[in-house]
Amino acid sequence: MKETIAAGVSIALVLAAGTVAAQSGNEARGERVFNQQCKICHAVEKADASAVGPNLAGLFGRKAGTAPGFEASDAMKASGIVWDDKTLADYLKDPQARLLGTTMVFNGLKQAAQLADVIAYLRKATQ
Ligand code: HEC
Repeated sequence: MKETIAAGVSIALVLAAGTVAAQSGNEARGERVFNQQCKICHAVEKADASAVGPNLAGLFGRKAGTAPGFEASDAMKASGIVWDDKTLADYLKDPQARLLGTTMVFNGLKQAAQLADVIAYLRKATQ
């Protein structure tokens, strides 16, 4: 009986933690998603060279298409986007649809939880 209660409590805790993560994003999970889906083209450390895409260091609060050392597309430069939680979620969900002419060849993060996780990771990692 005691064990059943303990098991019930830990399930409730896991559920509660899951709810919080879904709302605010989980950095550790976001790092895994980034490493799997973004790192091939993007660096987050200022000192690292990015291969295909712009370096994402200092991303938050920056105007789209102004990353140092990268020639962004005309679409990106003219977009008027300033990167924050909302604009990132919007773009990363479906880059081609959000910004016609963007040269980022990426299908988009379709799962809301993955999107929130990556943004939580980026907020910290690009500081
Ligand atoms: C195949 C390579 C590639 C992949 C994979 C990729 N990107 Fe990109 N990304 C680019 C390129 C190229 C651009 C520049 C787009 C433009 O100028 O239109 C870009 C632009 C961006 C920008 C805008 C940066 C700025 O300073 O304006 C962000 C943010 C971004 N990518 C985040 C991500 C994230 C997060 C992922 C993974 C979920 C990802 N990208 C996956 C190549 C990629």
